[in-house]
Amino acid sequence: MHAKMTKLQAVFSLSLVFLCLCSKTLGQAPVQAPAQAPSKPADTPAPRGTPDVTKILQKAGGFTILLRLLRTTAVADQIKGQLDNSDTGFTLFAPTDSAFSNLKSGTLNSLSNEEKIRLMQFHTLPKFYSLENFETVTNPVRTQAGDTKPGDYPLNLTAAGGQVNISTGLVNATVSGTLFSAKQLAVYRVDKVLLPLDIFVPKPPAPAPAPVKPKAKKAAASPKSSSSTTTTPPLVVDSGAVGLTEHGMLVSVGFSVFIAAFSLR
Ligand SMILES: *[C@@H]1O[C@H](CO)[C@@H](O)[C@H](O)[C@H]1NC(C)=O
Ligand SMILES: *[C@@H]1O[C@H](CO)[C@@H](O)[C@H](O)[C@H]1NC(C)=O
Ligand SMILES: *[C@@H]1O[C@H](CO)[C@@H](O)[C@H](O)[C@H]1NC(C)=O
Repeated sequence: MHAKMTKLQAVFSLSLVFLCLCSKTLGQAPVQAPAQAPSKPADTPAPRGTPDVTKILQKAGGFTILLRLLRTTAVADQIKGQLDNSDTGFTLFAPTDSAFSNLKSGTLNSLSNEEKIRLMQFHTLPKFYSLENFETVTNPVRTQAGDTKPGDYPLNLTAAGGQVNISTGLVNATVSGTLFSAKQLAVYRVDKVLLPLDIFVPKPPAPAPAPVKPKAKKAAASPKSSSSTTTTPPLVVDSGAVGLTEHGMLVSVGFSVFIAAFSLR
């Protein structure tokens, strides 16, 4: 009786263990296998196989947050799909984990899913750029985020002697290394997360006009031009320092700082 019981128990627990192992490996294999396999680094990429952004970043290490974002936004798949199916090249600016950790806390959490997708697409240029190519780009450069409406989500690049500076209008970053550069795909390490103005500073309803002269109201001003002028310029300057998390808050903080600065005089 006893022996039977223990045998049964043994079988039972063995199968449990087996089940656990199975589900574990089933669940994790696709993600971990490539990362852990210490296969010989294929330094010379296969001549025809499509380069895989995810594998490149995993191999380089230190891109956990970027990898997660590229996966959850499906931008990694997007890049892969387009590399597979067209001759369009891609350039990816890859912010390191420390670049992400230098963001104001809550920055990522404050973004909607749509904004996260835009953020990832903003780091992607729908064209292959070698370091030399950067020296002759015409600014602003089109990013994947601005694909639907050209002129949106622009990025400025300046390069000389192998050094590449990137400016979003909010953030200045530099390219600090080349992770991959072959026919269709370039992946560059950057020291900062490229925060697009389009997400982190709400667009003013209209281009901010020059301040209305206080007493120049002789002729009946058209009702449109007299509508309150939105004071955006000072905010843009401050926003980098003040904090990028809550848009609404940011504006009011920036604005009251602006007011306070004036009332102190
Ligand atoms: C990049 O920025 C740094 C720091 O602002 C500056 O010293 C350097 O000249 C810039 N390089 C290029 C190529 O724009
Ligand atoms: C980017 O470059 C364009 C063209 O030179 C310029 O008009 C624009 O102000 C620049 N934007 C930033 C954020 O540097
Ligand atoms: C970025 O660099 C430009 C030119 O060097 C400078 O005018 C601007 O203040 C910098 N912006 C930030 C946010 O550091």
